[in-house]
Amino acid sequence: MDKRFENQVVLITGAGSGLGEATALQIAKEGAKLSLVDLNEEGLEKTKIKVLEVAPETDILLVKANVAHEEEVKNYVDQTVDKFGRIDGFFNNAGIEGKQNLTEDFGSKEFEKVIGINLNGVFYGMQYVLKVMREQGSGSIVNAASVGGIRGVGNQSGYSASKHGVIGLTRNSAIEYGEYGININAIAPGAIMTAMVEGSLRQMDGDNWEEVGKEFVKPNPMKRFGRPEEVGHLVAFLLSNEATFINAAVITIDGGQSYKY
Ligand SMILES: NC(=O)c1ccc[n+]([C@@H]2O[C@H](COP(=O)([O-])OP(=O)(O)OC[C@H]3O[C@@H](n4cnc5c(N)ncnc54)[C@H](O)[C@@H]3O)[C@@H](O)[C@H]2O)c1
Repeated sequence: MDKRFENQVVLITGAGSGLGEATALQIAKEGAKLSLVDLNEEGLEKTKIKVLEVAPETDILLVKANVAHEEEVKNYVDQTVDKFGRIDGFFNNAGIEGKQNLTEDFGSKEFEKVIGINLNGVFYGMQYVLKVMREQGSGSIVNAASVGGIRGVGNQSGYSASKHGVIGLTRNSAIEYGEYGININAIAPGAIMTAMVEGSLRQMDGDNWEEVGKEFVKPNPMKRFGRPEEVGHLVAFLLSNEATFINAAVITIDGGQSYKY
């Protein structure tokens, strides 16, 4: 396969686990320099080890940051530019599910927390990265939305509101920045087996979560969870120079489930 990311700098938030880690591995194999951001330093170190196993030459910057805090977002962008001088791709991905609860019991503190990470964090990231990309006259952003940002899921007020918001931010900024050679898209994954989905199944039925998972995927046309690397391949394509005319798109990756009902 051609190395689509040779001499390119790709910034990934939430890189210490799941979809962020899978994307880092895919993109490193294709030659990228990586700036990896997460709140969880241990997760970042583990991702770095895995990346160096598959792509030993990779130049990697690790930055600990809470994406809900604007000054920490500014810092991870500044550190990336200080080290690498540019940002070609940005996977704006860090997020949490939050507690599952009926709207009346959801709680304003929990709502603020989920919105702070999933929506404010994505906005802060775009704000600082787009400034860099506009000066370069090129760049590509993929925001992590969800099928929960397209339709109702239930028991997820904060998550659903934040992911609908991510799709709104994506479409708005995509229209503003297309003329500068920058494309901005969102992915809308269904259930992909990561730590987040395991946590979600545990919220439904604690120790019995694997059985719950088997029931959970029965309505899926493909009868299974998605795999993180399947999302990594999609994000890599969207960030690559093969996808430069795809802009303002929201791409579902859910085995077809969201078109079923
Ligand atoms: N896995 C799925 O089925 C699924 C489906 C739809 C959307 N998504 C979205 O994809 C993204 C990644 O999810 P995942 O499944 O890989 O989850 P994950 O829990 O495996 O990984 C998320 C990573 O984000 C980090 N993180 C959490 N809060 C943070 C913060 N405030 N600042 C910095 N980093 C923070 C975590 O430490 C973790 O390493 C999320 O935005 C999620 O909502 C996932």
